[in-house]
Amino acid sequence: MRSEQVIDRINERSNTDVIAECFSAAANTYHHHNSLQKISAQKLLNEMSPSGVLLDIGCGPGTDFSYFIHLKHVIALDIAQGMLDQVERHFPTYQTICSDAKAIPLAQNSVDTVYSNLALQWCDDIKQSFDSTALALKSGGNYHLAIVAQDSLPELTELGFRANSFRSLPNIASQFDPEVWRIKSAAVETITVYFTSLKALLYSIKGVGASIHTGASPSNSTSSVLSHGIRGRGDWQKQLVKAERMRQEAGLPLTYHIARLHIEKR
Ligand SMILES: C[S@@+](CC[C@H](N)C(=O)[O-])C[C@H]1O[C@@H](n2cnc3c(N)ncnc32)[C@H](O)[C@@H]1O
Repeated sequence: MRSEQVIDRINERSNTDVIAECFSAAANTYHHHNSLQKISAQKLLNEMSPSGVLLDIGCGPGTDFSYFIHLKHVIALDIAQGMLDQVERHFPTYQTICSDAKAIPLAQNSVDTVYSNLALQWCDDIKQSFDSTALALKSGGNYHLAIVAQDSLPELTELGFRANSFRSLPNIASQFDPEVWRIKSAAVETITVYFTSLKALLYSIKGVGASIHTGASPSNSTSSVLSHGIRGRGDWQKQLVKAERMRQEAGLPLTYHIARLHIEKR
């Protein structure tokens, strides 16, 4: 689907429906293109020691939590049913819930730990998501969050693609109600992933279902991503030449700034 068509459809339907549809469509091939998500997930997992019930918000095709032997139950929540189908196939013991992170349909104080890796940059109202999460999480429970942050994907702009901006770390942190949450740590880390070709680089975005331009303004933008003006073979050749100028020893770079937060419910 061309990006202009996606924009038209966003105008007709809610952003959430379109995001869910695009991620569902990408679910089968997601694992070919998710190198950034894997790097970020490992960093989050390294700082956790969960037990009891864990809620994974924006779970995608599912994360392996079997390393944590004190975990009793994993709840995998996502708006994209296609992603949850993958979870059910690969992690049959997980409970799956098809829901928006802004309205989590779980009993109050029923979750011990919350994990969310690179999903909530898609959410148009993260405060609402954090408020909803606080209801489900027990007092003293931990939330481990990674989210794509401001100034990510500078290479796309350099190549002439249009990428929406992302929230800054202070903006993300300010959405946690200080009467409910205590921020234990918050930092931004730069992660650069490398690709053999421009096509592979663009697929890493498209392949994780992220090829939507929401048309949001930088202050309230919900997510990245691409809107491009490639109109034919000539344009594509020009993009290829520009991309080759950016090539480093490891390949064509794509730079992300990942905000990682550890928050505790009071
Ligand atoms: C880039 S994937 C990350 C998946 C997984 N956490 C990982 O580490 O591979 C983002 C996921 O967030 C989901 N998502 C986006 N917006 C959401 C929302 N408002 N509520 C719940 N899930 C959402 C998408 O459907 C998608 O599966």
